[in-house]
Amino acid sequence: MQIGNQEIVREEALRLLRIAEGFSPARAVQLAAELGVADLLVDGPRTAEQLATATETHEGALYRLMRALAAVGLFTEVEHGRFGLTSLGELLREDHPQSLKFWVVFQGMFNGVYADSMHSIRTGEATVPEVFGRPLFDHLDEHPQHAAVFQAAMGQHSRVTGAALVDAYDFGAARLLVDLGGGDGSFLGTVLSAHTHMTGIVFDQPYAADAARKQIAASGLGDRCSFLGGDFLRDVPPGADVYMLKGVVHNWPDDQALMLLRNCRRAMEARDSRLLLIEWVVPPGDAFHPSKFIDLSMLMVYGGRERTEEEYVELLARADLRIDRIAGTASTLNVIEVLPA
Ligand SMILES: C[S@@+](CC[C@H](N)C(=O)[O-])C[C@H]1O[C@@H](n2cnc3c(N)ncnc32)[C@H](O)[C@@H]1O
Repeated sequence: MQIGNQEIVREEALRLLRIAEGFSPARAVQLAAELGVADLLVDGPRTAEQLATATETHEGALYRLMRALAAVGLFTEVEHGRFGLTSLGELLREDHPQSLKFWVVFQGMFNGVYADSMHSIRTGEATVPEVFGRPLFDHLDEHPQHAAVFQAAMGQHSRVTGAALVDAYDFGAARLLVDLGGGDGSFLGTVLSAHTHMTGIVFDQPYAADAARKQIAASGLGDRCSFLGGDFLRDVPPGADVYMLKGVVHNWPDDQALMLLRNCRRAMEARDSRLLLIEWVVPPGDAFHPSKFIDLSMLMVYGGRERTEEEYVELLARADLRIDRIAGTASTLNVIEVLPA
């Protein structure tokens, strides 16, 4: 066998090692988020000893965790054994307006799922029911603490990506916008704040009600926004001129995605409405795109999938819908405008 240029082989080997060992930094940042270390550094650097006391952890082990995370830019070791926050680490602070703390904690909820995820590759189905005993949304319905982390995580992700969407797409054409699977209403709140003539409804499962009502009240939108509990796989309320599904269709395999889209199509009948899908669209070819790994998470966690443009066209056609246009945004998400076929 011809090995070719040794230097290239060595670089490739190092690349493979970095990919294969990706779990370690991911788990390290989850541990820091779970411990709330960044929140303890709000007033300035602290020693590993002080941090270990506050988090009830082993001082030596916590030092090693902090040193490793300093090496990827989350903390900085200002003098031996004393750590402060970097601008990246600031995003782990719970009180930061662009905080991703709960998003990181939420990722950590699935370590057992990823460990057992050969199940998904063998069967094409979610691994969550194998590990949690039931599909994720049923699990959340029965575990309020996990539901709270889930809602907070989705809200934080929406606050970080929401501005790019509102900048790129004119949501202002809507008068009544219904956000199906709208979670805690963070994204709808961003849209309504940018367009003061609009009213909105967050439609989600009843377990999301408390988080959504709190979020709506906190953003001062109580007079223009409300929460409606329901199951979009059974029914979608009629009456909106625009429906939105943000990060929702990708949670579902084709059969259930189709049920949801057909319910949307029926609800759209009454008012000539349009539907906005906010999703990643998998590009063709080998180039790196976040959708390709999010797709694996969708499979393992929900049994869902990311889709190519062609796959969206086909799926929507089966629900008597068609894509009018796809708007790119400064985030990697797209706004897919959908009309009756
Ligand atoms: C991945 S989250 C997306 C949340 C939000 N749209 C966002 O982008 O932050 C999917 C949402 O769909 C909701 N959901 C799941 N099954 C549902 C159902 N059968 N009916 C209504 N909502 C549902 C979940 O509760 C969750 O809030």
